[in-house]
Amino acid sequence: MKQSVKFKLNGQSVSLDVHGEESLLTLIRVYLDQTGTKYGCGIGECGACTVLINSEAIRSCMIFAEDLDGADILTIEGLSQNGELHPLQKAFITHDALQCGYCTSGMIMNAYGLLMQNPAPTREEIIVGMDANLCRCGAYNRIVDAIQTASK
Ligand code: FES
Repeated sequence: MKQSVKFKLNGQSVSLDVHGEESLLTLIRVYLDQTGTKYGCGIGECGACTVLINSEAIRSCMIFAEDLDGADILTIEGLSQNGELHPLQKAFITHDALQCGYCTSGMIMNAYGLLMQNPAPTREEIIVGMDANLCRCGAYNRIVDAIQTASK
């Protein structure tokens, strides 16, 4: 049975009638057509689907619609302001911190959450904080470089 779910997505109020067991990732990509958030594994292991919920970096494939009422969700589409990329996005470009780019939005959102908690992390803290986000192309060093640059 469908239920009504209300939350904020990138500052906009959203109301959907969905099955409670649908994932936030499905709501974002399929119902709301915002495809910057990526489907990687679907089981919480890769980090490609990372978004912020109430200022905490969370894997959207593991969150269910029935738990979203009143949540404040930020996705990669909500990071740029007034047509200006966020410093993290700029740093990823400057450092060429991607190859295929599939993991990038999840990397940036996880880094955003990390920098909210720790605005000036050491390189070691960045490595630990990003440890569970996977990049099959192996751009890890450049990703850490980009996050260090954005944190300055
Ligand atoms: Fe959600 Fe991999 S798609 S963690």
